[in-house]
Amino acid sequence: MKTEEIKQVVRDRYGKCAEISGGKESCCCPSEVPASSSFAAEHGLYGQEELSLVPEIALSLSKGCGNPTGFANLQTGEVVVDFGCGAGIDVILAAHKIRPGGKVVGVDGASQMIERAKQAVAEAGLQDRDIEFRNTYLNETQLPDSFADVVISNCVINLCPDKEAVYKEAFRILKPGGRLAISDIVYTERIDPQVQERFQSNWAGCVGGAIEEISYLRMIRETGFSQVEVVARHPLPPKELEDMACCPGPEFTPAPAKEDLAVVQEKVTSIKFIAVKPKTS
Ligand SMILES: C[S@@+](CC[C@H](N)C(=O)[O-])C[C@H]1O[C@@H](n2cnc3c(N)ncnc32)[C@H](O)[C@@H]1O
Repeated sequence: MKTEEIKQVVRDRYGKCAEISGGKESCCCPSEVPASSSFAAEHGLYGQEELSLVPEIALSLSKGCGNPTGFANLQTGEVVVDFGCGAGIDVILAAHKIRPGGKVVGVDGASQMIERAKQAVAEAGLQDRDIEFRNTYLNETQLPDSFADVVISNCVINLCPDKEAVYKEAFRILKPGGRLAISDIVYTERIDPQVQERFQSNWAGCVGGAIEEISYLRMIRETGFSQVEVVARHPLPPKELEDMACCPGPEFTPAPAKEDLAVVQEKVTSIKFIAVKPKTS
């Protein structure tokens, strides 16, 4: 598939998920996840205090693989952009940290996700001028140069066939001295190209567009970022790998073959990293 086709498939699958689940039940892959639960809660990505700040609609549609606001060291007054905000879980958590005086912008390609995120922000009682959403692809946010102090993203850029363009856009909109706080899925070693190709036919699943960690971090440095530091790694155990591989749910993204999952088992990890746009660049 070509880049634009992949982006459309990803957008349509997440869009449909947001549209039909409506926050009433989980649309994550595993049937064992209770309807009242969510991927975020089930996989222990967030603490109870954080979960208590987030309305059910954003929780039940959360599809992250980390908790970027937990390691972004957000400060009062900062401007934060969430790349691939989904139904808004991290927008809401960021908003609590940067107020008063800061701003959060959530960007997502799926209009239905943006609608859910707006609903979640309203339900959280946070709707006003310092939270804004943009329904656009991440390589073309149309935000001004040097706009943000921090770009966060949670399990999104693995889904982008144009990763370099996405990171160039993050670099452009960050202020000099601004930073990235990213959680994403990578391979820890080289994967048999045929198996990788089969995963790539499942792009909306969070393994479909994954690349090797070493290439991923090289790309971040080549974009111009410095002080790239992986702050945590979490190798995906079998159940999480299965969940991730057919995100946002098997009714939207066909589950990969068990044999292919077995081949990549223990070679897929979520990484959390930070990086800085140098003050002079
Ligand atoms: C796995 S979900 C994660 C959502 C959210 N960050 C969370 O933690 O719940 C991926 C999200 O990224 C969005 N997305 C994927 N590729 C995108 C792209 N190229 N441009 C804009 N949004 C994109 C999808 O629409 C979806 O909402």
